[in-house]
Amino acid sequence: MACRLLGAADTKLPMPPEFDQDPRAADFVQNPYPAYDRMRALGSAFRWTQYSHICAAGHGEVSGLLRDRRFGRSVLHVTSRKSLGWPEPDPTLADFHAVERHSLLELEPPDHTRLRSLVTRAFVSRQIEKLRPGIETLAGELIDGFAGSSVDLIEAYATPIPVRVIAALLGISADMAPRLLAWSHAMVAMYQFRRSAAEEVAANVAAGEFAAYIGTEIARRRTIPRDDLLTQLVTARIDGARLSEPEIVGTSILLLNAGHEATVHAIGNGVKAILQSGLDPLELLRTPAAIAATIEEILRFDPPLHMFTRYALEPVEIGGARLKVGDQIGLLLGAANHDPARYAAPHRFDPARDASGHVSFGAGLHFCLGAPLARLELEVALPVLLSRLPRMALVEPPIYRDTYHFHGLERLLVTAN
Ligand code: HEM
Repeated sequence: MACRLLGAADTKLPMPPEFDQDPRAADFVQNPYPAYDRMRALGSAFRWTQYSHICAAGHGEVSGLLRDRRFGRSVLHVTSRKSLGWPEPDPTLADFHAVERHSLLELEPPDHTRLRSLVTRAFVSRQIEKLRPGIETLAGELIDGFAGSSVDLIEAYATPIPVRVIAALLGISADMAPRLLAWSHAMVAMYQFRRSAAEEVAANVAAGEFAAYIGTEIARRRTIPRDDLLTQLVTARIDGARLSEPEIVGTSILLLNAGHEATVHAIGNGVKAILQSGLDPLELLRTPAAIAATIEEILRFDPPLHMFTRYALEPVEIGGARLKVGDQIGLLLGAANHDPARYAAPHRFDPARDASGHVSFGAGLHFCLGAPLARLELEVALPVLLSRLPRMALVEPPIYRDTYHFHGLERLLVTAN
């Protein structure tokens, strides 16, 4: 690993520093935070060699750029592939792109505003709070099912909760959870660094099957409406117009994928942080205020998603880097959360601190729509688990999965008594 300053190609504007770090190197996957410290020390922007684009790692920069309207999650609403010199999308990945094209995360205003305003209604805290008793029951039942002297909490607890909650919200049967998980895992592998050709094929197959399944569910709702989010998407009218079928499919799949992958790992990383901190779990989760503070610190301390990118929508200069329309910038959420300029002793897990301002849910236009739901799931899952198993301890040091920019555990083996 090496940091070096490139020679200045432009006398007025020096090139940003270069940072050479394989995102799949074992030490980085297990603990990326020391590398983030070195990235931040380079200044407000640097070029990450392996990604070939500019990145920002400081809290002020990341938080500001997430809100900066000169950047977007997509760029094709302001220019064309031809003028950017981009090739046409790979036709062998057509099913995957068809789903992604209509995802809220890939849209910008006015389409983004239209879709988001509709879905937001289902995700406001008041609506989400109604799910609390059901999540409590589910968490209790899962713990009742723990067998043996040790249990892998990722598989037996953190994975089933989010998928069953989001499926119930959409109105999809709990029996579908294993298939939804398989489709979702295959699709999100597309966002990993250095994905393989086999992973691309699997993601495309999963997208096709997932879309076909949601299509049949939509058809059923058109015949017999139900009291669920899918029916709301089917029947909703915005300015007199209904959502198109690809928009409903894209939105449903985004909710199912985004709704569980990150939450699984927020639960896992949270239990790990608490058990390794030496703090008394019951004390940390004694009151609603203590629970809320512990959860915000978990999200700051070890977030499950570490990098999101933006495209420059106009020529921009960032920290000595000159970006053209269509150039990408990587925003390092995990690094921003550990910036000592924003949080004192950032590498310490300290639920007593004020963790507000963390960027684990992003910021600005694309701020996580599911944040109230994710917080609720954590607010229920952690206290239920730790109060039922107060002497729980790690059986082995937890290992993170090699899936950057995702940052979650392979397994979390704990004593089950
Ligand atoms: C701890 C769990 C979660 C984390 C850390 C997380 C993180 C994020 C982040 C960082 C973004 C913004 C990406 C960007 O700006 O480029 C985002 C967007 C989004 N998230 Fe989450 N998320 C979580 C849980 C959820 C859940 C439970 C749902 C829904 C059911 C959800 C649905 C969404 C959606 C729909 C967007 C796109 C919003 C938009 O583009 O307007 N997320 N999430």
